[in-house]
This record gives sequence, C-alpha cells and structure tokens, in this order.
Amino acid sequence: MNFNQVAPHYRWLETLVFGRKLQEARIAFVRQIAPPRRVLVAGEGNGRFLAEFVRAHPGAEVDCVEASARMIALARRRIQFGHVQFICADLREAKLQRQSYDLLVTHFFLDCFAEQGLPGVVAKLAGLATADAQWLIADFCEPATGWARFQARGLIAAMYFFFRVTAGIEGRRLLDYQPLVRSAGFCLTSQRLSANGMIRSQLWQRK
Ligand SMILES: C[S@@+](CC[C@H](N)C(=O)[O-])C[C@H]1O[C@@H](n2cnc3c(N)ncnc32)[C@H](O)[C@@H]1O
Repeated sequence: MNFNQVAPHYRWLETLVFGRKLQEARIAFVRQIAPPRRVLVAGEGNGRFLAEFVRAHPGAEVDCVEASARMIALARRRIQFGHVQFICADLREAKLQRQSYDLLVTHFFLDCFAEQGLPGVVAKLAGLATADAQWLIADFCEPATGWARFQARGLIAAMYFFFRVTAGIEGRRLLDYQPLVRSAGFCLTSQRLSANGMIRSQLWQRK
C-alpha cells in the first residue's frame, strides 16, 4: 500500500467526484466534540481535516500517523500552527503509547483494509484510546435501498478499483467496521449522512 503516487492528485480528484462533500463529512463534528487533549489521526492524507481541526482545537496535542511521505509533505504545508507531530509509518507497526489518546480520527481510512486486516487495525486503535475516548469516523457506506444504492455500489466499486491499481490498498469492498468499534467499548452518539446516504460521518464515545 502506497499513496505517494496518488497524493498530488487526491485533492482535485476528490473535488471532481464529490465537490465539498468529503470535506464536510470530515469536519462534521469537529466543533461539537468535547475538547480533546491528545489526538491520534490515522491516515490523515493531505491535511485538509487537520487544518480545520487545529483551528477549532489549537491546544490539542496531535499525533498524525500516515504511511505516505508525500501526503505528509502536503499536510505540513496546510498546517500553520498547532501541536502536530507527523509520524511517517504504517499504523499497524507504529510504536505508540497505549491508552493515551482521548480522540481517535479515522477518515476514509478503515475502508483501505480487507477482512483479515480490519479487526487488527480497529483493535490497535482501540488499545491506544483512553477509557473515555471519542472517535471520529467518516467513510463511505451503501444506502439501504433504491436507485441511490445501485449508484453508490457502482461508484464505490470504481473507487476500490482505482485505489487498488494506484495505491495497492488491500481492501476489495466496503466492510462494516461498526461491530468492531462497538465491541471495543464505543457507542455511536451522532451520525450524519450525505450524498444520498453514501457518505457517513460518525462520532463514537467510549464510556
Ligand atoms: C483513502 S486515503 C484517506 C485520506 C484522508 N484521511 C481523507 O479523509 O481523504 C487513506 C490514507 O491512509 C493512509 N494509509 C493507508 N493505510 C495506512 C496504514 N496502514 N498506516 C498509515 N496510513 C495508512 C494512506 O497513505 C492515505 O493517505
């Protein structure tokens, strides 16, 4: 898996296909969450979420674990202030302090993994979170019925094909990460759908 090749094109491709919808999904709950102290952002990409996040929470200490050096370079240019540490690593191998983050952020990240990888990734993230952590997740999902479901399936299949060819992601189809997040002790507290139910923003809370 390597997003270096696609990194310079990620922004315009996203805008071409989705306009502002992905960015709106990333930042849907940024100003509603309880102010976090230590934040782990996994697979941040080119820094659009992070730029907005540090404006809203300038005091938070953020560790951003991102496997692509080119994505990190783009993100660094967007972050003018704040306490952000970039760690260029595969999250699965990164050495991070357990039970130390009171906010996890995974936007369009969990969908990169396949059946055999996803449970380990969710377990690693959950193990890094505190007992009262919040978790922001934005991702694609399939609308329940109708034409929107049919359309979304086609677009999601095309995206998987594209990212498998250009970035070598292991995922082949959308998986439901929710049971894994729930069994790690998190409860869904807020959800927003957009793009006819194809894009989902969620706020989870561990109690
Ligand atoms: C589909 S992009 C999403 C980027 C961004 N979060 C967004 O909202 O669009 C997935 C990002 O996760 C990173 N990534 C994928 N697998 C990773 C892993 N195992 N460890 C760290 N970063 C990873 C990729 O380099 C890429 O920047």
